[in-house]
Amino acid sequence: MPDLPKIKVALIGVGNCASALVQGLQYYGNFKKDEECVGLRNPVLGGFRPKDIEIVAAFDVNDRKVGKDLAEAIFAAPNNAPKIADVRSTSVLVKKGPVLDGLGEYTKNLVQLSKQPESKVAEALKESGAEMVVNMLPSGAVKASELYAEQALTARCAFVNATPVFIASDFSWDKRFEKGELPLAGDDLIDQVGATTLHKTLLKLLSTNGVHIAETYQLDVGGGTESLDTLERTRDIKRTVKTKSVESALPYKAEVVAGSTDYVDFLQNKRDSYFWIRGMYFCNAPMQIDLKLSTVDAPNAGSVLLDVIRATRIASDRGLKGAIMPICAYAFKHPPRLTSIETAESMFADFMAKPA
Ligand SMILES: NC(=O)c1ccc[n+]([C@@H]2O[C@H](COP(=O)([O-])OP(=O)(O)OC[C@H]3O[C@@H](n4cnc5c(N)ncnc54)[C@H](O)[C@@H]3O)[C@@H](O)[C@H]2O)c1
Repeated sequence: MPDLPKIKVALIGVGNCASALVQGLQYYGNFKKDEECVGLRNPVLGGFRPKDIEIVAAFDVNDRKVGKDLAEAIFAAPNNAPKIADVRSTSVLVKKGPVLDGLGEYTKNLVQLSKQPESKVAEALKESGAEMVVNMLPSGAVKASELYAEQALTARCAFVNATPVFIASDFSWDKRFEKGELPLAGDDLIDQVGATTLHKTLLKLLSTNGVHIAETYQLDVGGGTESLDTLERTRDIKRTVKTKSVESALPYKAEVVAGSTDYVDFLQNKRDSYFWIRGMYFCNAPMQIDLKLSTVDAPNAGSVLLDVIRATRIASDRGLKGAIMPICAYAFKHPPRLTSIETAESMFADFMAKPA
């Protein structure tokens, strides 16, 4: 089989999530057989393997990352994603992007801003040959995320928004990408072993069996800079997005709370998610679930991101434009329209099954 043309990707934000993605590309690129790629939902998607993805540009603002080879920058503090692979040096040097609201009051204490001049993002994207921009800025970086979306449009790149900033789910951005004839995917990536998905699946299972859910919450703590930023800037928006998503699993109104609670630095990149569910079943008999899920945060984004990047290339090849609903519903917590997990899965399967 001849090699497919590489999917050329630019990364916005070289934080923990980017670290897992770059290491994952190296890690899975080392396997000769698809069946050896344990931990990936789709070793091959639309004919593309992880080795068909190439990172061609990266932007950050942290002094320890800007100007460095991407292979080195992904391990620079305050990143604390675990080392999974020895990443060979790349030809990509991290460029300084516009700072805007990229750093919050809390994260400012952990990051020294680079003094290098800001690069012209659209020009740099064009020079790199990027066809797709993956936005992995801190979730409080609303203005900065919007600026990079704008620059992606100018440079004629598709845009994937892993952050909870509303871009793919915002009608005006959707229209702008449609007019620009470019695909858009977002918002707020779903984790592979996701607390939101697990919570929804449990509620669905219980309610299908006739259990009446009275109250439920899911709260989590983590030690990455994203958890710190959430504490200061995005706790409310994250709570709204997650709560709405969890509520959609039940066919009736219940007391639902879902969101992040705290930053615990010694957890490093680990995340502990707590679930509590109270309901009634036959003849009002009470039931209760108390559950804890422990994960490592950054690798939790890897498999889903690899799927989104490959599916977005497929959307580009088919000339699709604007928010691509099957991708948004399958891989994001806040798509333009909320659907059930089953609907999202079948929309994505139908999308992938379509002939090229
Ligand atoms: N499992 C996951 O990791 C996961 C899942 C779902 C969503 N997300 C989302 O992905 C995003 C990234 O998460 P993370 O854990 O990698 O965060 P992070 O804090 O580790 O990384 C963010 C990076 O962006 C850089 N940055 C800040 N301002 C910038 C600017 N103006 N220009 C360029 N770079 C800038 C920071 O220096 C840092 O390197 C978040 O919005 C998070 O909500 C992550």
